[in-house]
Amino acid sequence: MSESIDAAKKPANTAGLRGQVAGKTALCTVAANGHSGLTYCGYDVQDLAEKCIFEEVAFLLLNGDLPNQTQLDDFCTQLAEQRELPDALKEVLERIPASAHPMDVMRTGVSMLGNIETETTFGSQKDIAIRLLATLPGMVTYWYRFSHDQVRIEMNTGAKTIGGHFLKLLSGEEPAELHEQVMNVSLILYAEHEFNASTFTARVCASTLSDLHSCITGAIGSLRGPLHGGANEAAMDMIEKWTSPDEAESEIMGMLSRKEKIMGFGHAVYRESDPRNGIIKQWAEKLAESVGDTLLYPVSVRCEEVMWREKKLFCNADFFHASAYHFMNIPTKLFTPIFVMSRTAGWCAHVFEQRSDNRIIRPNAEYIGPELRKVPDIQSR
Ligand code: COA
Repeated sequence: MSESIDAAKKPANTAGLRGQVAGKTALCTVAANGHSGLTYCGYDVQDLAEKCIFEEVAFLLLNGDLPNQTQLDDFCTQLAEQRELPDALKEVLERIPASAHPMDVMRTGVSMLGNIETETTFGSQKDIAIRLLATLPGMVTYWYRFSHDQVRIEMNTGAKTIGGHFLKLLSGEEPAELHEQVMNVSLILYAEHEFNASTFTARVCASTLSDLHSCITGAIGSLRGPLHGGANEAAMDMIEKWTSPDEAESEIMGMLSRKEKIMGFGHAVYRESDPRNGIIKQWAEKLAESVGDTLLYPVSVRCEEVMWREKKLFCNADFFHASAYHFMNIPTKLFTPIFVMSRTAGWCAHVFEQRSDNRIIRPNAEYIGPELRKVPDIQSR
């Protein structure tokens, strides 16, 4: 039999539900619907990243349309007014050790908030989404500054944007305009991505008619892994070890020959490029120039060249985020929590969508265990 006939007969590899349509959404397309890139509610992410602030995109996802100026002002005011953390939540955050992973801190923070500001009716779902978006930067930085620097930070930063609020909470200083701009773009790029693992987790949880805090807590747990959101931290851990582009190249070649996964490369849906990469790469380059970097950015570019040359694997959104965040003095372990601050907009929008036309998500499994058998007496086992 010829090779081409073999290939035609070979069943598609659907492990990990790859290629399966698991539901409907009006929120996002990922290389679909005649568009090779990424769209949110019909808008190209590149267009949004050029013309909008993250708050406009969060409003878009939660409401289905972009806000006008009055709506945006109201939304930003609501977000700013909702930043304070309840004392009971601060007490819990103060008990979490400095050695904890910040993603676990956020998981606990959202879960705790669900105990003290419980969602009792789905009618308040949008208010809860706003409360989560407003408090997440504070949750993680309150814990971080208390456990690492022994200071209790105030939430009233006066910052206009979520990105600026986070940077000011973290450093205690007014962020540079460039840094606030990059945070804004980064939050837009991470805001939504169709039926990825964490969003699917949120939707499965929502389909049982559970509360919004449970959906987001579960989603944070899914995002934590290095095959998903944790890849930006893993990429940073890898590139910061290398002292030159040549060393990066030879280390990558070694890793590929040992069949190791290179974090920040490849994608489950995109085949030739991740539309978010070009955007964040440009900003990483600008940041590199601003700090006079001559190592991390060139190392990152060499990794990109080698991976494409050797494996036709491309950078996903996470790879150049690593150096970009690093140039803004953000500690590596806070990289994935930034993803949470952003993706919460997408997760909440998906929960609303699931609730608006719900049927409990309950697929079947293909059984591969033993044939039916009798339980033997315990003495004869
Ligand atoms: N490094 C090395 N090899 C990789 C790779 C990477 N980052 N990503 C994919 N591959 C290899 C796979 O091992 C597979 O090889 P095989 O056919 O010999 O088994 C081949 O490329 C095709 O993989 P693919 O089917 O496209 O990947 P997937 O859908 O199973 O997994 C990811 C997608 C994202 C989980 C995977 O690319 C990965 O683990 N990347 C690193 C983690 C990461 O950056 N995650 C963030 C995603 S936004």
